[in-house]
Amino acid sequence: MGKTRLQILFFGLLFEFISRHSALSYVVSDVGGLGRRYDGIGGLSGGGATSRLLVNYLEPYRSEILDYLFKPNFGASLTLLKVEIGGDSQSTDGTESSHMHTSDDENYQRGYEWWLMKEAKKRNPNIKLYGLPWAFPGWIGNGTQSPYANIDVTVDYIIRWIQGAKTHHNLTIDYIGIWNERPFNLPYIKLLRKTLDQRGLKGTLIVAADNLELISIAIHNDRELAKDVAVIGVHYPGTTVTNYTLETGKTIWSSEDFSTFNDDIGAGCWARILNQNYVNGMMTCTISWNLVASYYDALPYKRTALMTANEPWSGYYDVTDTIWVTAHTTQFSQPGWMYLRHGAGVQHLDKGGSFVSLTDGTNLTIIVETMTHDHSVCIRPYLPPYDVAAQNVTFNLQGSFAKISTLNVWSSKLRFDGQQPSSMFVKKKPIKVVKGSFTFTIGPDEIYTFTTSVMGRKGSYQAPPPSKPFPLPYSDNFDNYPLYSEASNFADQAGVWEIRDSNNSSHKYVMEQVVTDYPVYWCEAARSPVSVIGKHSWRDINVAVDVIIGANGGAFLAHRIKSGGCQVRHSLGLFFMVYSNATFSVYNGIDRQVCLSTGKVNVNPGSWFNMQLLIKDNEASGFVGGKLLFSLQLEKDGIPNIGFVAIGTPDYTWAQFDNFKLE
Ligand SMILES: *[C@@H]1O[C@H](CO)[C@@H](O)[C@H](O)[C@H]1NC(C)=O
Ligand SMILES: *[C@@H]1O[C@H](CO)[C@@H](O)[C@H](O)[C@H]1NC(C)=O
Ligand SMILES: *[C@@H]1O[C@H](CO)[C@@H](O)[C@H](O)[C@H]1NC(C)=O
Ligand SMILES: *[C@@H]1O[C@H](CO)[C@@H](O)[C@H](O)[C@H]1NC(C)=O
Ligand SMILES: *[C@@H]1O[C@H](CO)[C@@H](O)[C@H](O)[C@H]1NC(C)=O
Ligand SMILES: *[C@@H]1O[C@H](CO)[C@@H](O)[C@H](O)[C@H]1NC(C)=O
Ligand SMILES: *[C@@H]1O[C@H](CO)[C@@H](O)[C@H](O)[C@H]1NC(C)=O
Ligand SMILES: *[C@@H]1O[C@H](CO)[C@@H](O)[C@H](O)[C@H]1NC(C)=O
Repeated sequence: MGKTRLQILFFGLLFEFISRHSALSYVVSDVGGLGRRYDGIGGLSGGGATSRLLVNYLEPYRSEILDYLFKPNFGASLTLLKVEIGGDSQSTDGTESSHMHTSDDENYQRGYEWWLMKEAKKRNPNIKLYGLPWAFPGWIGNGTQSPYANIDVTVDYIIRWIQGAKTHHNLTIDYIGIWNERPFNLPYIKLLRKTLDQRGLKGTLIVAADNLELISIAIHNDRELAKDVAVIGVHYPGTTVTNYTLETGKTIWSSEDFSTFNDDIGAGCWARILNQNYVNGMMTCTISWNLVASYYDALPYKRTALMTANEPWSGYYDVTDTIWVTAHTTQFSQPGWMYLRHGAGVQHLDKGGSFVSLTDGTNLTIIVETMTHDHSVCIRPYLPPYDVAAQNVTFNLQGSFAKISTLNVWSSKLRFDGQQPSSMFVKKKPIKVVKGSFTFTIGPDEIYTFTTSVMGRKGSYQAPPPSKPFPLPYSDNFDNYPLYSEASNFADQAGVWEIRDSNNSSHKYVMEQVVTDYPVYWCEAARSPVSVIGKHSWRDINVAVDVIIGANGGAFLAHRIKSGGCQVRHSLGLFFMVYSNATFSVYNGIDRQVCLSTGKVNVNPGSWFNMQLLIKDNEASGFVGGKLLFSLQLEKDGIPNIGFVAIGTPDYTWAQFDNFKLE
C-alpha cells in the first residue's frame, strides 16, 4: 500500500514537474496535404452609412485613415472590402443612396462607396470587392415589401450596379450577395447567376445567403444551386458551423462578424475570431462589421469597427488595437495562400488559445492567439476551453518546413486593466529553429506571428489633431460639393439627400430629398425622411434653413431627436412641420401621435421660404419667413432634454433645402 502511494506521489510530482517545465508540442507540417484556401480578411462599409463622415475629412487625415485600413504592409492591410448597395432606406446607422431611385433613373455618382472602393484599390490593386443590398427603392417591390416580387427586375437592378461599377469607376466587383440577413429566394439566386454569365460577368461570384442552415439544406438538395453559389456566407457564427454545412464541401466565410466596441477587449474578441473561425469552423474569410466607425457616437453600435474616424471637423481619428490585431495575419499572408491541415498547423493550444498556419508553398506564417474568454462583450459565445494559462509551446516544423532555420517574430499583448497600455504589433528578435523545432513562452491575451516573410511594418503618421466638439456657429450653403454627393455632417436616417442644382442663381446647389417612394425596407422605415446633424447632447439650439416644397409636399425642422438608426421611426423629439396646404403642425415625435400646436402659415409650393426653430431654456418657438407661428413650454410635452437637430420632409416627397444655419 505504502509503496504504491509513494509511487503515485512520485509519478504525480514527476508529471507535474514535466508539465510545468516542459513545453507542449505541436506539429506544423505540409506532409499529407494542405487545408483550405485562405480568402482574406475584410471590412464592411455600410449596413448602413457607417462610412458617412469619413468622406468629409480634410487631407492629409483622410488619406491617413485610408492607409491604416487598406495600404499593404502598413496597418490592417485589408484584402477585401464589402460595401452596401445603397437602397434608399435605413440599414443600421443611416440610409445609403440607390443608383436607381426610380425605374427610369440611373446614376453612379451618388454616395461615397464608389469613392471608398477606388481609394481601397488605389492602395491595394489586389483587394477584392463585394457588394450586398440591405434595402431597395420602393419600385423594386412593386407594391410589396419584397425584392422578389419580380426577380427579373431585381436581378437587372443588381447587375446594373455591378456594370456601373465597371463602366463609371473601372471597378470589378468580385463577389455579390443576396439580401442582407433576410430570406433568400432560390429562383432569384439562379437567375442572378444565369444573367451574370449572360452579361459577361462570370467572374463575379455569388455569396449566399447569411442564413447558414437554410442555404446549406438548399445546397444539399439542389445540384444546380450548389454550382451557382460559390461561397456560403454566414453572419456572426461564433466561430462554428454545423457538420451539415461542412458536408456541402463549399467554401465558407464569416461574411459579417465582430460588431464589438473597438477597445482592447474588442481587439481580443477580433483576434480570437480571426484564428478560430478557421480552427473551429473552417471559415476562410472573416469580414468585420464594420470597417470604420464614421458615424455619430449617438447612433447605434457606437465604435464597433476596426477603427474610429467620426470627427471630420477636427481631423481627429483613433487607430485602435483592432487594426494591429488584423495586421498579424494580413501583413504576412495573401488570399490564395493555403491553411495547413487541422492537427498539422491548425488547432487549439492545450492550455487555451489557438494557432493557424498558412503557406504559399514556400513561406510559412503561424499566428498564435491566447485570448482569455472571460469578457462577455464579444458578440457571440465561443467554444471551450475558456481558461488560458501561460504556457511553453514547442512547434515541430516538418515536411518542406523542416529546413527553415529562422523565423521572424511579431507580438502583441492586450491589457484590459487600464493600468498599462496594450503593446501592439512589436517586431521581436527572430527566433532560431533548431532541427525543425522552436519553443516559446506565451501568456494570456497575447498574439504571436512567426513567419518566414520579411514583410511587416507598423505604419504610423504624426498624431492627428485633438478631438473637438462639433463646431458652432455652423452654416452651409451647399454650393461647394460635387453634384449627387452628400453634404458634410448630415446623416440621413430615412430618405436620401443629394446635392443638386436648384436652377436658381440665388440658390445654386442645394440639398434635395430624392426618395419619393416608401422603400422596400431592411428595418421598417420611418414615416418621414429625416437627416440628423450635430451633437446629440445639445439642449438649446437656433436652427434655420431655406426650403422649397412641391404640391402635396412639406418640410420640417426638428431638434432633440432621441434615437437614430432603425429606432428613428419611433423617435421622440420636437418636429416643426410645414405643409404645402399652408398649414403647420408641431409634434413630439416623428410618428406624429401628439400634435402640440397647429395653424395656418403663408407658404406656397414652388416658392422658397425660410424656416427657423429656436429652443432656449425649455421654450420652443417656430418661425416661417421671420413670423412667429408658435411658442411652447417643453417640460410637459414628452420632449427629450437633448438630441440631434434635423431637417426632413413629413412624407416621401421632393423638397430642397439651402442656407442651413445652426447656433
Ligand atoms: C406590378 O404589379 C401589378 C399589379 O399588382 C402588375 O399588374 C404588374 O405586372 C407588376 N409589374 C411588374 C413589373 O411586375
Ligand atoms: C482599370 O483598372 C485596371 C486594373 O484593374 C487598369 O489596368 C486599367 O489601366 C484601368 N483603366 C483605366 C481606364 O483606368
Ligand atoms: C461533426 O463531425 C466531427 C468530426 O467528424 C465529429 O467529431 C462531431 O461529433 C460531429 N458533430 C455532430 C454534431 O455530428
Ligand atoms: C517555461 O519553461 C521555462 C524554462 O524551462 C520554465 O522556467 C517556466 O516555468 C516554463 N513556464 C511555463 C508556464 O510552463
Ligand atoms: C516568401 O519567401 C521568399 C523567400 O524567403 C521571400 O523572398 C518572400 O518575400 C516571401 N514572401 C512573402 C510574401 O513574405
Ligand atoms: C434643373 O435643371 C435640370 C436640367 O435641366 C433638371 O434635370 C432638374 O430637374 C432641374 N431642377 C429643378 C429643381 O427644377
Ligand atoms: C430664386 O430664388 C430666389 C430667392 O429664394 C427667389 O426670390 C426667386 O423667386 C427664385 N427664382 C425663381 C425663378 O424661382
Ligand atoms: C394639410 O396637410 C396635412 C398633411 O397632409 C394634413 O395633416 C392636414 O390635415 C391638412 N390641413 C388642411 C387644412 O387641409
